[in-house]
Amino acid sequence: MKRDNNSLYRKVYKTEIGVVDPGIKDIPLLRKLPVINKAAELLRAGEVVAFPTETVYGLGADAGNPEAIEKIFQAKGRPQDNPLIVHIASKEQLRAVSDSSLKEDTLNLLEAFWPGPLTIITGKSSLISEKTTSGLDSMAVRFPSHPVARALIEEADLPLAAPSANISGAPSPTTAEHVYNDLQGRIPLLIDGGPTWIGIESTVLDTRSEAPVILRPGGISQEEIEKILGKEIRISPSESDNKGQPLSPGMKYSHYSPATPLILAKTREELLEKIKEYSSCNTKVILSEESREQIKGLLPAGMEVISMGPLAKPEIIAGRIFALLRKLDRPELDYIIVEGIPEKGIGLAVMNRLYRASSKE
Ligand code: TXA
Ligand code: MG
Repeated sequence: MKRDNNSLYRKVYKTEIGVVDPGIKDIPLLRKLPVINKAAELLRAGEVVAFPTETVYGLGADAGNPEAIEKIFQAKGRPQDNPLIVHIASKEQLRAVSDSSLKEDTLNLLEAFWPGPLTIITGKSSLISEKTTSGLDSMAVRFPSHPVARALIEEADLPLAAPSANISGAPSPTTAEHVYNDLQGRIPLLIDGGPTWIGIESTVLDTRSEAPVILRPGGISQEEIEKILGKEIRISPSESDNKGQPLSPGMKYSHYSPATPLILAKTREELLEKIKEYSSCNTKVILSEESREQIKGLLPAGMEVISMGPLAKPEIIAGRIFALLRKLDRPELDYIIVEGIPEKGIGLAVMNRLYRASSKE
């Protein structure tokens, strides 16, 4: 047995990778694949399995089995007080895992966005382990749209607790390779279903009160939610409420950070300033397509830049950002500078991740 950082002993696995052709979208067909059967068997036996969702890869286990859930916390090195999202594969399954009936507004949101990257906070039924919710009286639940995720949940016939399949604190994984780099030897099976398409995690929305609150911006934007509800909604103003209690426990932890210090430049001016300031170091710059064109002539010789995509298409930037942070996380680099983008639509979620990944100076 290998010794983990915090003196707990963790099982060492030979991590198997099962490839699923991303072209297969048919759920009944996916459920017949040997890799999905094997994964479902492992999950029913209380093991963990990494699998693709439309947002990022998840690390799943039976949400009703505390020993299985403990393996998720161990594999990721995740703090015990950070609860997990329960993944389901039908709206009927929601009734089985939750304890309360939902408001009409919430049902309208589920109608509009499920399956998809919207997580709602509700009460849990006794089917869900306290370990999954870190002892909270509330539960986060979502119905992912990725056919592999749906086939796996259906075939295992279990609600799956699944955080992002990265080592705690690292950028979330958008390819099987990212998962393998973080979790090899820590999990028995990884389903490779190709790159995820949204690229950042789901929106976490607390719908328990009359005024819903976004606890974590994500794949479904504030504007999209407001359009369905016909009213304005709030975004959790800070990482804590006025009693100092984090609303979404995960928001209090340092997150998404590459080991190389990341400098966030919010404006074009700041971008040029930072490029100048760090020009004598080994620095790489992540910027928009537009900025790359416009400041080409102003870059110090030898400073490499990499495009995150066009500002006009923030969904492309969302799809690439975590992969870029991982790609540039190389020991020979001193700094990564990243350009900020407008906090509109999915751009808000991208900026939330960049704020939290960047070095606080
Ligand atoms: O897109 C996603 O949501 C991905 C994929 C795999 O589905 N999952 C994901 O899980 O991002 P994770 O564990 O990395 O982030 C879950 C977030 C954390 O910030 C956690 O604190 C919050 O959801 N959360 C979970 N249960 C909660 C609860 N009962 N109340 C408030 N926040 C909760
Ligand atoms: Mg995560």
